Amino acid sequence: MGEITNINEYEAIAKQKLPKMVYDYYASGSEDQWSLSENRNAFSRILFRPRILIDVTNIDMTTTVLGFKITMPIMIAPTGMQKMAHPEGEYATARASSAAGTIMTLSTWATSSVEEVASTGPGIRFFQLYVYKDRNVVAQLVRNAEKAGFKAIVLTVDTPRLGHREADIKNRFVIPPFLTLKNFEGLDLGKTNQGNDPSFASYAAGQVDQSLSWKDVKWLQTISSLPILVKGILTEEDARLAVQHGADGIIVSNHGARQLNYVPATIMALEEVVKGVQGRIPVFMDGGIRRGTDVFKALALGAAGVFIGRPVLFSLAAEGETGVRKVLQMLRDEFELTMALNGCRSLKEITRAHIMTEWDYPRLSRPVSRS
Ligand code: GLV
Repeated sequence: MGEITNINEYEAIAKQKLPKMVYDYYASGSEDQWSLSENRNAFSRILFRPRILIDVTNIDMTTTVLGFKITMPIMIAPTGMQKMAHPEGEYATARASSAAGTIMTLSTWATSSVEEVASTGPGIRFFQLYVYKDRNVVAQLVRNAEKAGFKAIVLTVDTPRLGHREADIKNRFVIPPFLTLKNFEGLDLGKTNQGNDPSFASYAAGQVDQSLSWKDVKWLQTISSLPILVKGILTEEDARLAVQHGADGIIVSNHGARQLNYVPATIMALEEVVKGVQGRIPVFMDGGIRRGTDVFKALALGAAGVFIGRPVLFSLAAEGETGVRKVLQMLRDEFELTMALNGCRSLKEITRAHIMTEWDYPRLSRPVSRS
């Protein structure tokens, strides 16, 4: 292969390098994977309405997220068990993220602890939280994250149970025995392959609290002063409830299409969620972002920023920290170019009028009659 020129190319390299069980775990969606392809495809149904003859000599991509200044509206989504991708795992991601001047979200199911990630040096980091049945465990996780300098809790709300991921069932997906979920060190829940059924799905089913509800958002606020981003909202109704329950932000997400199949692409759900919050809290999105043009489209539909997940895992597998740095740089460069070619010099100049969607122009999706 010649020079890697875009972030999609990392997936093929990762597929070659990784054990099939690991690649499949990262790459798969649930059941027939309609939402998985739709997350990507939906972007191709949104077109630009670029404005011309605007001086774009200087482009400013900086923004502020929960009061933290970052160099671009592209952040790192939580993805589990990064040491399956590369021996440096979350350490490499943390260093690449800091070097890019952006935010990394560490998964509850990371193979490096909050303290270990903090030890890589300064950086703005959020902690993704799965709420376990044992609330003492949850309180400890949150306390550890706060003590290690993490700046927000990203509460995943779309996973009362794990989605039906058939590749993982076929492969009997287990976390390799030399790895543990490091945030649970000392809590006796870090080894996931004990008991009669060593599968990861069985561990998750045993621990994650299916009773999680809106009152738990309030409970989290009583145990921590960190801001809470609610991740996994896809409807206007739930967006309104998140505002009512004091969420500090929303991440429109379908969990990389790994949970409920036949939910819409996140880029399709974004606008209704933005409408639901009525500007009260910021709305972010993840899912299917592979190009700077995708980032621009998300911002035009009202996102305050985006998160990337699989591109981090695949570039980590391919080239470790260097790969993650390159992915962030490629997306930054593409996004800057997209802004320039659309005539936007700052993020606030990106508007809904810079794009058209199927629902604005239904003829986009129908053959045009020439008679
Ligand atoms: C973890 O969050 C997963 O989707 O496997």
